[in-house]
Amino acid sequence: MKDIKVGIIGCGYWGPNLIRNFNDNQHTEIKYACDLSHERIDRIRLRYPFVRTTTDYKELLKDKDIHAVAIATPVFTHYKLVREALEAGKHVLVEKPLTSSVKEAERLVSIASRKKLILLVDHTFIYTGAIRKVKEFIATGELGEIYYFDSVRINLGLLQHDVNVIWDLAPHDISIMDFIVEEKPKSVVATGSSHTPHGIEDVAYITVKFMNNLIAHFHVNWLSPVKIRKIIIGGSKKMVVFDDLDPAEKVKIYDKGIKLSKSDKNSIYQSLIQYRTGDIYTPNIDSTEALKAEIEHFADCIKNEKTPITDGEAGLRVVRILEAANKSLKRAGVKILL
Ligand SMILES: NC(=O)c1ccc[n+]([C@@H]2O[C@H](COP(=O)([O-])OP(=O)(O)OC[C@H]3O[C@@H](n4cnc5c(N)ncnc54)[C@H](O)[C@@H]3O)[C@@H](O)[C@H]2O)c1
Repeated sequence: MKDIKVGIIGCGYWGPNLIRNFNDNQHTEIKYACDLSHERIDRIRLRYPFVRTTTDYKELLKDKDIHAVAIATPVFTHYKLVREALEAGKHVLVEKPLTSSVKEAERLVSIASRKKLILLVDHTFIYTGAIRKVKEFIATGELGEIYYFDSVRINLGLLQHDVNVIWDLAPHDISIMDFIVEEKPKSVVATGSSHTPHGIEDVAYITVKFMNNLIAHFHVNWLSPVKIRKIIIGGSKKMVVFDDLDPAEKVKIYDKGIKLSKSDKNSIYQSLIQYRTGDIYTPNIDSTEALKAEIEHFADCIKNEKTPITDGEAGLRVVRILEAANKSLKRAGVKILL
């Protein structure tokens, strides 16, 4: 039964994907769609004639029948819209990143908790079969101790006008790291530069260090001639490669690594490190669309009062790293403690 009535604010590029999935879900019904642009809501009305449309989000928040609101507007608007939706008593699904500052994210987490409402951040990758498989594999201990998390997300475009490449692209990989790595990050260093007159950084490199020897690196770039979306996770026993652009073999597990043995005084180097090269394994991946799984999870959390996997706290942890990375970037790569 479609007993969760949903309103959506923001029907630009990503919003229609949410609308389609809320419409297809057995528990949710899209009742309202809101955008400042008439052209965009006209397009929604054409496809979903039963959906009420408005250019004023307050109208949607006032509607007592609406249980949940999905927000797919630009990042700088998230705080105000999420806060007002929560204050109006609605459960919220908001796009990544949760907010553009740690202070704002902390406030939203606290309001959601006080009002006992679900706050789910759309960290889409966490709901993909591939990332779930990687998490599952690491949880079995087969990877051993995690040595590093190395991600590359680069392409030509789409240059944004309101946020730099860190705020636009890094939330995806930072949210994946947050989901997979149990350790707490300790510090962030970031460098980057802009190649357009408006000064918004289009290339950036972020390094995150942890309490132990684990190190994470994120390379994000809007000016790359080739599209790469890859993560390599190196462990003491095995290594994993996630290639989002490989349609058939997104996850590969390599039985490769080094083995440390006791030193021999006469040939210290050779005797210390041995290389191991074993099999490569490609696990089967569930190909369910991430947003489908995510909206099913959102509905389940609302109906059964569960905490979402990507709740406000997860959103806050990601914003904490993004904010620190941005601070470091603006101060020529100074180390920021978390
Ligand atoms: N999860 C993902 O994989 C993914 C992918 C793309 C974008 N996003 C996120 O989705 C959000 C939106 O990105 P987009 O690419 O769709 O942007 P977009 O600019 O294409 O769309 C945003 C829409 O919000 C509308 N809007 C802005 N303020 C509004 C308000 N106060 N009331 C009603 N409508 C308002 C705009 O008119 C616009 O149509 C961002 O947070 C972005 O990070 C997530």
